[in-house]
Amino acid sequence: MSCRTTTFALLAALALSAATPATSVAAKQKRCPASGAGCSLKQVAAETGIFAGTALSNEMTAAEKADVIANFNAVTSENAFKWSEMSKTAETTDFATTDRLVAWARWKKLRLRAHTLLWHRIQNAPWLKAELAAAPDPAARLRELIAERVTKVVGRYRGKIEVWDVINEPLAIFGAGYDTEDTAVTPKNIFYTTLGEGYIADAFRLARKADPKAKLFLNELLWDSRIGDPKSDALLALVARLKKARVPIDGVGIQAHAMLGTSSPWFPSTTASLKSYIDALGKLGVKVEITELDVRLPLLADQPNPLAAQAAVYRRVASACAQARACTGLTVWGVRDSDSWLDSYSLTSATAPNKPLLLDASGKRKLAYQAVAAGLLGRRR
Ligand code: G3I
Repeated sequence: MSCRTTTFALLAALALSAATPATSVAAKQKRCPASGAGCSLKQVAAETGIFAGTALSNEMTAAEKADVIANFNAVTSENAFKWSEMSKTAETTDFATTDRLVAWARWKKLRLRAHTLLWHRIQNAPWLKAELAAAPDPAARLRELIAERVTKVVGRYRGKIEVWDVINEPLAIFGAGYDTEDTAVTPKNIFYTTLGEGYIADAFRLARKADPKAKLFLNELLWDSRIGDPKSDALLALVARLKKARVPIDGVGIQAHAMLGTSSPWFPSTTASLKSYIDALGKLGVKVEITELDVRLPLLADQPNPLAAQAAVYRRVASACAQARACTGLTVWGVRDSDSWLDSYSLTSATAPNKPLLLDASGKRKLAYQAVAAGLLGRRR
């Protein structure tokens, strides 16, 4: 066949393929109905561009990992990347668990949020307090330890982790300041009391240097994420200071644990109030993700249909994320009801099983599952 004939045949084939509607799987897959009925959150994520995620731990059973793959396109490490889990001494860092978790997430093509580099409240490095007490210059020693942790850990996974929770819950657990004293509810923020607020900027700059492509987030435990709520306003002010100082912060995580209540002051009461708050963060130049959403069912025990009431709370949050352009992801904090941290946490274990998630203990979708789908579909691509 001459060269001219071959070229013609090739052009004809290209023209034909262009005229034939794509028969890829995606084209065959029906679009989700607005109700979300029958749609996985993975498909909803594909149709909306909003990541749908869950917490991931190496302790998950094979069935739970199958649930992750079937229902989500993103994961957050629940505990593996915390300082206490990685460094049992000031001199050692054990990457075995995090290597396994990163490898699995990449193998399954799940966007990975690594949580978290610095968190003063729980699972901080158990040896840190003694290490600083013994140091002639505690501030210099802490700067050195933070630089070593951030540079080594972020650098090891350069190009493999899409998002880092660089700082977790820097603000006081209740109110607008910082935890400056040890109390029964929380230890002091040893990073803040030793270095001042500058530890936040330092950690972000070190992380950016270690992996210029990763998205760097500050993740906060807000209660009622609303303009006018003191802690919410303090977070807005903190982010504004960081942006003004040209700190490389790309995003803010709003955890959204409905742990103490499902309306103000413990949780956003309306879609509109949460959307306005996300918009306010977006105006500062950061993306926003709902990062640890769960809704304790016992909080709704007085409702005629608690599972329907739980679904309504979930839909409220998902709708706010869909309506606020800055919102790029929604993660629930666990796969099955039987996974939830709430059933072993001292303040909530008394009401176990708390059944806070989207899949029941057998992996069956609850009303809340479709409610999240319907809420997110409010932003159809
Ligand atoms: O790994 C040890 C294990 O060796 C030991 O046998 C067992 C019993 O003592 O404890 C295991 O560690 C537990 C760890 O979860 C792993 O299961 C810790 O005691 C326990 O405190 C830890 O709880 C985690 C909690 O953070 C505290 O760090 C929860 O799983 C996790 O879901 C929860 O997640 C946090 C986010 O990171 C930040 N936002 C709030 C959220 C809820 O507290």
